[in-house]
Amino acid sequence: MNFFHKTNFDFSTKAKNWILDRYQDKFNRKFYHDLDITQYDSQVEWHNSLAGKELIEFLSKYNCDTNYYGISAFISNMPYDIKSNPHIDTKFKQGNSYRIKTRFNVMVLGNPQDPMVWWDHIEYGNSKLTESKFHSITGQEYCSKSIPGNDPISRWDYLGTPTIQTSNLLTPSAFVKTDCAHAVILSSVPRLIVTVALDKTLSEITKILD
Ligand SMILES: [Fe+2]
Repeated sequence: MNFFHKTNFDFSTKAKNWILDRYQDKFNRKFYHDLDITQYDSQVEWHNSLAGKELIEFLSKYNCDTNYYGISAFISNMPYDIKSNPHIDTKFKQGNSYRIKTRFNVMVLGNPQDPMVWWDHIEYGNSKLTESKFHSITGQEYCSKSIPGNDPISRWDYLGTPTIQTSNLLTPSAFVKTDCAHAVILSSVPRLIVTVALDKTLSEITKILD
C-alpha cells in the first residue's frame, strides 16, 4: 500500500506572500487545529488568487481539481512539540460526512522533518471507530468518527506502532493517504499547510505517471 507520493510543486514567492498575509493574524497566539469546516466559505477568494491558480494548474496534471472540498489550510502555532490527534479525514457537508481518500498538501511554513505516521489497520468506516462531537474554531458543532480513546495520547496507545513513519514529506508538497488513521508529530514552529481534499485514491492519482 502506498501512503504518500512526493511532488516538487511549490508556490511562487508572490503566491506565498498572499497566503502568509491571509493567515497572518492566526500566528499572534498559541493555536492548533487540523480542521476548520468554515474555510469552505472562502473559496471564491482562493480561486481568484495567484496561489489558487498555481495550485489548480498543478493538480490538473494529475487530473485532479479542487471541486470536492475546496482549498483550505492547516495552521498551528504551538510553543511546544505536539503529537497531533490520530484521526481519519472526513468531509462534512450539510450534516453528512464523507470519505476523504487523499489530500494534496503543500508546506508554506513549518519544519519539513516533522514526521507523518499512518496506521493501515484502521480505515474509514471501521466499526471500531466511535462517534464524537467536536467544535470548529468558530464554534460550529459537528459529529465525527474518532479513533477509540479520550485524548490524542490514548489514541496513539490504542493504535500501537505505526505502519509507516516518514520525515521530509512536504519538501515542499505531496499527495498523502487520509482514509486510514494518521497523525503528525509537530515541532514548536509556526506551521501552515495548504491542503486540497481529493476524491481519488493515491493509486488512481499516480497511475497517470505509469
Ligand atoms: Fe488528516
